[in-house]
Amino acid sequence: METPYQNHIDKADFDHVYEPSEDSFLLIDALEKDLEYVKAKNPTFCLEVGSGSGVIIGAFGMAFPYTICMSTDINFKACIMTKQTASFNKVILDSVNMDLASLFIDKKFDVIIFNPPYVVTATEECRVNDISDSWAGGVKGREVTDRLLHMIPKKLADHGVLYLLLIEDNIPVEVIQIMSMYGFKSETVLRRRVRNEQQLVLKFYK
Ligand SMILES: C[S@@+](CC[C@H](N)C(=O)[O-])C[C@H]1O[C@@H](n2cnc3c(N)ncnc32)[C@H](O)[C@@H]1O
Repeated sequence: METPYQNHIDKADFDHVYEPSEDSFLLIDALEKDLEYVKAKNPTFCLEVGSGSGVIIGAFGMAFPYTICMSTDINFKACIMTKQTASFNKVILDSVNMDLASLFIDKKFDVIIFNPPYVVTATEECRVNDISDSWAGGVKGREVTDRLLHMIPKKLADHGVLYLLLIEDNIPVEVIQIMSMYGFKSETVLRRRVRNEQQLVLKFYK
């Protein structure tokens, strides 16, 4: 998979929007590793939750030009940047400013991707409406992720797949348990140590 060009972005814009980092690229690498699996699903709709600069959904859209791509972010400036990244890379995409996927009523996606705010912090550090919303994950670094997990049965098509980035501090085994309660199987697609952080991408499917 190609990494989208981001030359249109001014470095100063990353004071307000999450700058693509090792976690972003691990997710792209995981999607690339699973490319044949995703292709076989012939996805009609793909959603990236928390798209930030748009590097991941941009890469997905370039690899799947016939899939209808959508993204959300709680950060309005991230929605604008995602839209620009898509357009700069000739990807057609809708970028919507919302909490997770909450406003998509009765809409199911074939692929959902999420690189969440995963750093363990105090709960009060979550949802403060600034750049810290990009990384502050609250208790176990999972407060935002867990809210999405409970939405997945209503947002993911029966044959769909969720790609989720976690770190070991998030206790992935608990995430696997939550998803198995909803009937999802899981697999680790890729893992990588980045400095003192063990990052992994899990996929969930039925
Ligand atoms: C770790 S960053 C990942 C950004 C981008 N996907 C990437 O990998 O480079 C997490 C993103 O989730 C967004 N976010 C945090 N809480 C959210 C929520 N409740 N709903 C939607 N997006 C959220 C942040 O604004 C940020 O853009």
